[in-house]
Amino acid sequence: MFVADRGKVSSSQATQVACNRIFRKLNMTERYAVIGNPVAHSQSPFIHAEFGKAENRTIRYERLEAAVDRFADVVSAFVKTGGSGLNVTLPFKGEAFTLATELSERAREAEAVNTLTFRDGAIIGDNTDGIGLVRDIVSNLDFPIEGRDVLILGAGGAVRGVLGPILEQKPASLTIANRTLIKAESLAHHFSSAGNCRGVGYEALAGQRFDIVINGTSSSLSNELPPIPHGLFSARTLAYDMVYSSGLTLFLQRAQSENAGMLADGLGMLVEQAAESYFIWHGVKPETRVVTNLLREKLG
Ligand code: ATR
Repeated sequence: MFVADRGKVSSSQATQVACNRIFRKLNMTERYAVIGNPVAHSQSPFIHAEFGKAENRTIRYERLEAAVDRFADVVSAFVKTGGSGLNVTLPFKGEAFTLATELSERAREAEAVNTLTFRDGAIIGDNTDGIGLVRDIVSNLDFPIEGRDVLILGAGGAVRGVLGPILEQKPASLTIANRTLIKAESLAHHFSSAGNCRGVGYEALAGQRFDIVINGTSSSLSNELPPIPHGLFSARTLAYDMVYSSGLTLFLQRAQSENAGMLADGLGMLVEQAAESYFIWHGVKPETRVVTNLLREKLG
């Protein structure tokens, strides 16, 4: 559901409406892209092309690198040349949230946007990261969140984007742990009306065990391990790293050494969030499992 238009249609939006009409009239292939900085590593073009292939749809989906201070300009140029939708990756999810003239509930809650749709002058912002994570855990890994004790590490943008959809699953408890305690506490406070949620520092985790431990920090990107105490994992625990990598991240290595019952990286989440964006743009829910397997093969 989309709510509250945040402004009048500007002249540049009117130009965009006209452009979109012309593109539709000429029956040109709609353009999509992922925008970020850096963006060269993004697998989104591959994923969307595979989704399209499965239903004989030709998808024009590119990578757009924007200088860090040129996000809005690059988006505007993309729209003027017939762009229909963008996936937004680091570091622009917050700016995409500000740029949107309409927001989904989940984007509003996350205060971050990873999917933009340009339609009749409106810039519609949504966030599919949380639903992507939840679908990967609950459907693909067949690991219910409902009634479980969940620990999420980190309190940055990536975590903020997934808390709402996790809490919707009604976990017994949700603990947010972060090096900078105030960020964990403030996120827990923000989401407190949505469920049983608390923010702690890493030292407060000593002696506790969880059913699901999600690494939502950026530590794996720099090959570091968050300062988690030993003993968080048991044979009943799902350890999930939101980062994907060809080998086990340090976080997953720790979970494995403590005999966690199940290990998963974020590749499934990546494909599921893309699938939800695809659904927003094309109205079709793509088959994800095949594409995840293909991507796993491709990444080696
Ligand atoms: P993102 O959008 O990826 O979430 P971010 O907003 O910069 O990026 O947040 C990064 C998160 O990873 C933060 O929670 C950060 O902890 P601090 O808030 O204490 O800085 C966390 N983080 C990064 N490297 C980490 C490490 N080596 N150990 C623990 N936490 C780490």
